Amino acid sequence: MTRLNVLVTGGSGYIGSHVVLQLLLSQRYNVAVIDNSANSHPESIKRVEEIAHAETGERHSVRLFQGDLKQRGDVEKVFNYFDEQEEKRGVYGVIHIAALKAVGESGEKPLEYYMNNISASLQLLDVMRAHNCFRFVYSSSATVYGEPPAVPIPETSPLQSESPYSRTKVFFEQMLRDVANAQPDKWRILSLRYFNPAGAHPSGRIGEDPLGKPNNLLPLLAQISVGRSYGQLKVFGNDYPTYDGTCVRDYIHVMDLAAGHMNALDALDKDAVFHDVAPGKAKAYNLGTGKGQSVLTMIESMRKASGFEYQYEIVDRRPGDVPNLTADPALAIKELGFKTVRGLEEMCADTVRWQKGNPNGYR
Ligand code: WQD
Repeated sequence: MTRLNVLVTGGSGYIGSHVVLQLLLSQRYNVAVIDNSANSHPESIKRVEEIAHAETGERHSVRLFQGDLKQRGDVEKVFNYFDEQEEKRGVYGVIHIAALKAVGESGEKPLEYYMNNISASLQLLDVMRAHNCFRFVYSSSATVYGEPPAVPIPETSPLQSESPYSRTKVFFEQMLRDVANAQPDKWRILSLRYFNPAGAHPSGRIGEDPLGKPNNLLPLLAQISVGRSYGQLKVFGNDYPTYDGTCVRDYIHVMDLAAGHMNALDALDKDAVFHDVAPGKAKAYNLGTGKGQSVLTMIESMRKASGFEYQYEIVDRRPGDVPNLTADPALAIKELGFKTVRGLEEMCADTVRWQKGNPNGYR
């Protein structure tokens, strides 16, 4: 069967590389990646190809375009390639993951966040339209919910942004609805609201490798367990209204998250998915497990998985943190066939295997 050409922006990154792997393993897609390596390494794509070869017995090659979505020429190059080569079949759809995503940093550099996460994304849509490509899966985030009125959080929970980063996701989701409503016969758009991605492919060959000190809890715990020291581990507040006083998050295995992208890509051509958002075909889904884990639970789980005896101190709350972000994943389960099959133990074991095998990440 002829394989459809799919472009994954940010495909060299942590989430992106696991999504690219899922696409290859399905053996239904030719995959291209555009990435500026701002927070990723091209080595991850080589390893994805190796894993896919090992798992399917078939050689796979991902066409990697080193480029920046802010440069229109870089984006045009990708679409021109698929319009002129590869049997001129063009790009079937785009999974748009590339973004800046550090909540704290976004407050210091709002202009960079708006340029990268909104202007560049609008330009991507414009180039897609120029090339008659209208299928779009968008990497959104649970941060669109701000401090939700209730947990678990359904997609109908009010959108309230607490940071420029969160605003880029709220604003762009709305722009996508506007674009889809203007051309309901063309655009098919699904926004995926990630909760907290965690874990790694069980081979230990790909995983999370942020530049500099990790902002997020799990990669920080992983790096500490292999001796990367960043001073005393701090728990930001233990006076929250949660089961042990520390913040609760919905950690979702990155392999389950990547599978959710396949579910979304496969659902784009199903009109029924968009039944309640007419006229435009643009809709958002939560990708989470529905189970919340606290900071202390994560530290204990990583202690068990790594054997590392973490020492930590309880300090003041981190500005912008909310007590509990746990998904209600029912809609994605019902309408996309999404499911999470990997639990906390597997997330931590897979994270530790990746970090122990790659103490310095891909570098
Ligand atoms: C989890 C909990 C911290 C570090 C992240 C991304 C955000 C979005 C969602 C993409 C919080 C606590 C952390 C530490 C700690 N991703 N913590 N000590 O805040 O949910 O947001 O996921 O859209 O961009 O930032 O995840 O891992 O940063 O923090 O106590 O040294 O761990 O306070 O309660 P968060 P996180």
